[in-house]
Amino acid sequence: MVSQTLREARKYEETMEKGIREEERPMFHLCPRVGWMNDPNGFSFYKGEYHLFYQYYPYDSVWNQMHWGHAVSKDLLHWEYLPAALAPDVSYDKDGCFSGSAMELPDGRQLLMYTGVVKEPRIDGSFKDIQTQCIAVGDGRDYEKDSRNPVLDAEDLPEGGSRNDFRDPKVWAAEDGTYRCVVGNCTEDHDGRILLYRSEDGFRWEFVSILAENKGRFGRMWECPDFFRLDGKYVLLTSPQDMMPKGFEYHNGNGTLCLIGSYDQEKHVFLEERDQAVDYGIDFYAPQTLLAPDGRRIMIGWMQNWDTSNLRDKKHAWFGQMSLPRELSIENGRLIQKPVRELERLRSGEVRHEHVVIEGTSSLPGVSGRRIDMELTLHVDEALGGEKGLQKFALRFAQDEVCHTAISFRPHESLLKIDRKFSGSRRAFIHQRRSLVQVRDGVLKLRIILDRFSAEVFVNNGEQVLSLTFYTDQSAEGISFYADGQIVIDVVKYDLS
Ligand code: FRU
Repeated sequence: MVSQTLREARKYEETMEKGIREEERPMFHLCPRVGWMNDPNGFSFYKGEYHLFYQYYPYDSVWNQMHWGHAVSKDLLHWEYLPAALAPDVSYDKDGCFSGSAMELPDGRQLLMYTGVVKEPRIDGSFKDIQTQCIAVGDGRDYEKDSRNPVLDAEDLPEGGSRNDFRDPKVWAAEDGTYRCVVGNCTEDHDGRILLYRSEDGFRWEFVSILAENKGRFGRMWECPDFFRLDGKYVLLTSPQDMMPKGFEYHNGNGTLCLIGSYDQEKHVFLEERDQAVDYGIDFYAPQTLLAPDGRRIMIGWMQNWDTSNLRDKKHAWFGQMSLPRELSIENGRLIQKPVRELERLRSGEVRHEHVVIEGTSSLPGVSGRRIDMELTLHVDEALGGEKGLQKFALRFAQDEVCHTAISFRPHESLLKIDRKFSGSRRAFIHQRRSLVQVRDGVLKLRIILDRFSAEVFVNNGEQVLSLTFYTDQSAEGISFYADGQIVIDVVKYDLS
């Protein structure tokens, strides 16, 4: 049964999407059918297709009553919208269907596990969320909320757990045929922790353990957890709120955290060995992964961030987009991210320039565009020393007479900076971010992927990624190179179509 609320949302999105031209959307990054999008939800492979749901408010391009939008794809790049999957239409989720995940049941149905939100009035007249975990089951298109909902509530919290911050279940099938899920939570004084639950059938859940605890280190509440094995290690991803900066690794505000370690099978606790940021750019949050049929662990994130989500172009009837899906691996104790290999199939028109000397500003024949995949090799070591020793290298793109967005590298500080200050924004939000990078074997490698409204910069074959969005007019498609001093670079550029 499709509720009235969901029927209205579906009708609205179907009508309103007609007013959005294809060129007004990113080409291969998913944005909402209409209205607002945040976190990826239910990222999964089901019945021969990738499914991606998302936090969705169709009626305006700002956050409000959360629905789940829905899209499917065969290659993770060409997405087809399906009707919205969930709407806040029952007593236990009337104030929002918050983030969650998906898996396939043995009978072939798809199970969605999400957070139901109800605003509870308080004596001072304000409201506070009560968050519980709920289930809906369907056929990949229509979903029925389960009569046993909520399946996890305040009763299932360990001692001291906040029922106001208890959200974002990530579910998976364990090897023994039972199920597990991790849920974000915090203590009464807002210290983040991740809870582990277990189920025989996917519907009845029981608390197992506190899988991991923040203990005051990385921000406060931990949102959107994901937990999986990768290359012989265990990885815990989470997005902490209210971070304090730490060197160039973590920045203020909403951050992304990757913990790498092992898992104690007896105590059911994660044993942390290393931590790092997931993305070092401006716009990235709440990533979620899936295990592809070919064994790849693929991650996608919301290519926005709460602290920066005010940079918008009012012309667009949509706001928010997903990052590129990224293949994950672990090398030398670090999380490595590479654009899904499917992207290479969209490449055409190779332009190659080898051993180009850059001194001052120059452009290169055939190098321009707003939907491109470009590999840059900077011969840094050779460029140091001498009279024309390199002080700074910069790549400018989405450029016209007035606007550009830039990536610059200062070898003496080993800092890579992304900068959208001149991208056309009239607001004083965060427009720049710097990250420490490594020169390896004398070179710095950058792979830059542009898709109309965004850039993702993969450093040294995926050792680090910096993502950002910008809304510069599409006619600004110039690319130029700049060096204070001199540097030799190699460029390989493809159009993406
Ligand atoms: C993360 C988040 C989640 C929540 C959702 C609400 O961006 O705050 O914790 O489920 O967004 O839209």
